[in-house]
Amino acid sequence: MSKTERTYIMVKPDGVQRGLVGAIIARFEQRGFKLIALKLVQATTEHLELHYADLKGKPFFPGLIKYMASGPVVAMVWEGLDAVKTGRVMLGATNPLASAPGTIRGDYALAVGRNICHGSDAVDSAEKEIKLWFPEGLTQYSHSQENWIF
Ligand code: PPS
Repeated sequence: MSKTERTYIMVKPDGVQRGLVGAIIARFEQRGFKLIALKLVQATTEHLELHYADLKGKPFFPGLIKYMASGPVVAMVWEGLDAVKTGRVMLGATNPLASAPGTIRGDYALAVGRNICHGSDAVDSAEKEIKLWFPEGLTQYSHSQENWIF
């Protein structure tokens, strides 16, 4: 059953440096998701190690942290029907070589180590990631009385 959810979406340093922030935001807005939070952040290594804590033993972990700390990221929270699952579909497969055209990675990326954008993989990880990146809390506002924007 579809449910209104919140997901954590992050434009990675390569996405910021390549000028893809606007294009990525536009896709989420145009799909009908509601922007709940957004900021540009130069993340510390410690913060990124918390974000990627589940991957600590992976061989690519040190390179992933270095890449993610190489420049600012754009941290966002989007809300809407099935936001977590649909956000992942919009991103495309983790390895851009396997991402379908029409997805963010399928249209803009080639390498798994430079795959432009992160999206939460489950509702519970979204909750953790939102708390980690927005400890100050989120703004509440009403977008519309209509039911085509969530
Ligand atoms: S795994 O191995 O199945 O747990 O990894 P996966 O779920 O595919 O990916 C988890 C995050 O690690 C990133 N990743 C990589 N980064 C750099 N280099 C390599 N080789 C690599 N492989 C996976 C991947 O993009 C995921 O990060 P996010 O931020 O979610 O995109």
